[in-house]
Amino acid sequence: MSAITLFPQPQQLERKAGAFTLNAHTRVFAAESALGERLADYLRPATGFDLPVYPLDGDILAAVTNAILLVSSAEEEASEAYTLDVAPERVTLGAGGRSGFLHAMQTLQQLLPPQILMDEPQDEVTWEIPSVRIGDAPAFGWRGLHLDVGRHMFPVDFIKKFIDTMAFYKFNIFHWHLTEDQGWRLEIKKYPRLTDIGSQRAETPIPADPKQGDGQPYGGFYTQDEARDIVAYAAERGITVMPEIELPGHSLAALSAYPELGCVGSAYEVRTTWGIDPNIYCAGNDEVFAFLGDVFEEVLALFPSEYIHIGGDEAPKERWAACPKCQARIKAEGLADEHELQSWFIRQIEYWLSERGRRLVGWDEILEGGLAPKATVMSWRGSAGGIAAAKAGHDVIMTPNTYCYLDYYQHEDWTREPPAIASTLPLEQVWQYVVLPDEIAPEKRRHILGGQGNIWTEYIPSAEHAEYMAFPRAIAIADVLWNHPSDRSYDALVQRLKAHLPCLEMLGVNYRPLDD
Ligand code: ACM
Ligand code: ZN
Repeated sequence: MSAITLFPQPQQLERKAGAFTLNAHTRVFAAESALGERLADYLRPATGFDLPVYPLDGDILAAVTNAILLVSSAEEEASEAYTLDVAPERVTLGAGGRSGFLHAMQTLQQLLPPQILMDEPQDEVTWEIPSVRIGDAPAFGWRGLHLDVGRHMFPVDFIKKFIDTMAFYKFNIFHWHLTEDQGWRLEIKKYPRLTDIGSQRAETPIPADPKQGDGQPYGGFYTQDEARDIVAYAAERGITVMPEIELPGHSLAALSAYPELGCVGSAYEVRTTWGIDPNIYCAGNDEVFAFLGDVFEEVLALFPSEYIHIGGDEAPKERWAACPKCQARIKAEGLADEHELQSWFIRQIEYWLSERGRRLVGWDEILEGGLAPKATVMSWRGSAGGIAAAKAGHDVIMTPNTYCYLDYYQHEDWTREPPAIASTLPLEQVWQYVVLPDEIAPEKRRHILGGQGNIWTEYIPSAEHAEYMAFPRAIAIADVLWNHPSDRSYDALVQRLKAHLPCLEMLGVNYRPLDD
């Protein structure tokens, strides 16, 4: 029997003799027709088979052959657990709800010949699925990838392809970083200058020599229709899109459009260099909160995600220190300093979001000056912020830069790689990432929702380059988040990846080749 390679590795897999062969006469029986259709949609392009989908009828099921059955199990509807039984007579997918069935479908696709991932009919292929019994469920409920579209933008078609690839590896959160100093990328109807002005910058640093600008105007944004389309596309594939609208820092593009929202009040320009900008929203100006409320009103209408990311990182306090309005706010609210002012700022937004049934997520700087009561912390400067937050009873998403930053160089020898931000994170180190730190007591571990890989795009100007940086490292992250594996043999990972690379070829993903 040939070896079976799956990413992520299922919790339980038993290989059995024989195989199921998918052909033009195979029928799908599904408890929920939309799920049966989704499976038929996955299988159609490469096989050319238009598999008919029938409702499940308990009486015929035991006898039916040449069929794929989607059978509701006793699992809770929200559970991501699934079973997959492949026998020569039939294939049975079992789950309590939609996400479990979607995971089972991805596993089924990985068991088929990799050509199943092609967009065109593959006439020469025999669609054999080896007999197996799989019982599977994720270790962590938050399995994300982040993409910064502020520094560079990517076409809607690429975002959809990225979401497809994420779904293939059972990621369930797409963290869409939509606003930056260097560009505001989401249409907001009430504030058209955010995109008229804030989405355009005069030039971009040259990757090989970032002190130089390229002299080329750069810009663009996603319309609300495009955002809705992406959200729906992702939802159909079991992925929630969490938007990030940065505050109080990384907001220079917004200030360029509406200068009255900054402490200085004029002479802002969309940033043309990388790094951290001192200009941030004024915390003493009530108009800022009215503006942010209006912006988030439109954001919430587009994104059903319970979790809404508000940034919170890298907000220098020098403008606040010099601003009479900010100083008046500090006094009026009885705050000790600008750090407590940032905490007060975040609390205003957190209250506004929770009134509307949403949860605030912020980078770990939101711990400084005191954490907002219900905030979820995204730990990026290592794991320390996440550990502190979990100990204090807050939920945490882990994405320490030392293991999860996919914009870092993939090899110690930077001359072998395209220009990247000045840090290194080889695949081998990603694979060593342990999501649950030992420092967290067992009763607090439930606060670690999971983790994600982050793709900051200062040095990533194209979709192809984004794929080069993401893969295969994101596959290792998917495995770590799904399994929390105890065996971290790098050789074993490389052997599995070698067997799996045909899937990336068929998906047309421009992955970085493995080192020899
Ligand atoms: C971050 O990388 N500044 C969150
Ligand atoms: Zn101010």
